[in-house]
Amino acid sequence: MQERRINDSIDRRHHDQDRRSSNVVWQNSEITKDHRNTLNKQKSAILWFTGLSGSGKSTIANIVEGFLHRNEIRTYILDGDNVRHGLNSDLGFSDKDRQENIRRIGEVSKLFIDAGVMVLTSFISPFIEDRQFVRNIVKTHEFIEVYVKCPLNVCEERDIKGLYARARKGEIKHFTGIDSPYESPLNPEITIDTSVSNESHAANIIISYLINNQYIQLQPANDARQSLLQKLMPHRKSVFCGI
Ligand code: ADX
Repeated sequence: MQERRINDSIDRRHHDQDRRSSNVVWQNSEITKDHRNTLNKQKSAILWFTGLSGSGKSTIANIVEGFLHRNEIRTYILDGDNVRHGLNSDLGFSDKDRQENIRRIGEVSKLFIDAGVMVLTSFISPFIEDRQFVRNIVKTHEFIEVYVKCPLNVCEERDIKGLYARARKGEIKHFTGIDSPYESPLNPEITIDTSVSNESHAANIIISYLINNQYIQLQPANDARQSLLQKLMPHRKSVFCGI
C-alpha cells in the first residue's frame, strides 16, 4: 500500500508550539493520577487499536472491555464512528482532518489516563506520525499500540457497512485502502492478524498482555469470569488461573 508523504502544508500542532492561548498557567490538583490509579487498583493506559475499516478493531475492543468491566477494571471505549457523531462531527476524511481527529482523541485519551481509566480507542488512525504524536504526549508505558492486521481483500470481502463497495464505485472519496493510504505500525506492542485469529483469541492475547505487564490484576475467580473465560478461550479454560 502506498505510503503517505507528510504534506508540508499540514499544520502539525505539537503541544506548546502552536498553542493559541497565551497567559494560561497549568493548575495542579491535589488528587493525582497516582491517587486515582491506587483507588482503582489498576494502571491506566490507552489500548490504541489501529487497522483498516472492517479489520475487527471495534469488535475486539468490545470483547476486551467486557472482560475488563466484569473484572472491576474502569474502562471507556472511544470509537471512530461514534466520536465522529459528536466531538469530531466537524471533521471529514482528508489527511488534515484525520490528523485533527487523532490529535483530539489523543488529548481526550490522555485525560482518561489522568482519570485513572483504561481507555480503548478504535480508530483507523492510518498515519504513523499521528499515532506517534499520541504516543509522545503520554508516558512510555501508557500507550499500547494494538495493530489489528487484516489484508485489504479480506476487509473488503467482509464489507460489513457496505462502504468498500461504495468506495470502489467512487461514491466515497479518500477511503482508506482504496484511494487513501494506511501506514502499518512499525513496532506495535501487540499485533493480531484477524484473517487467521478469531476475535476471542485476539482478546485473549490483549488481556494476557495487560496481566503480564501488570496493568491489571484479576480478582479471584468468580462465576461470571469463569463463563467469560470459557467463551474467550474454549480450548484453554484455565489460562488465567493462579493470577
Ligand atoms: S480515521 O482515519 O480518522 O482514524 P475513523 O476511525 O475516525 O478514521 O473513522 C473510520 C470510520 O468511518 C470507518 O470505520 C467507516 O465506517 C467510516 N468512514 C466513512 N468514510 C470513510 C473514509 N473515507 N475512509 C475511511 N473510513 C470512512
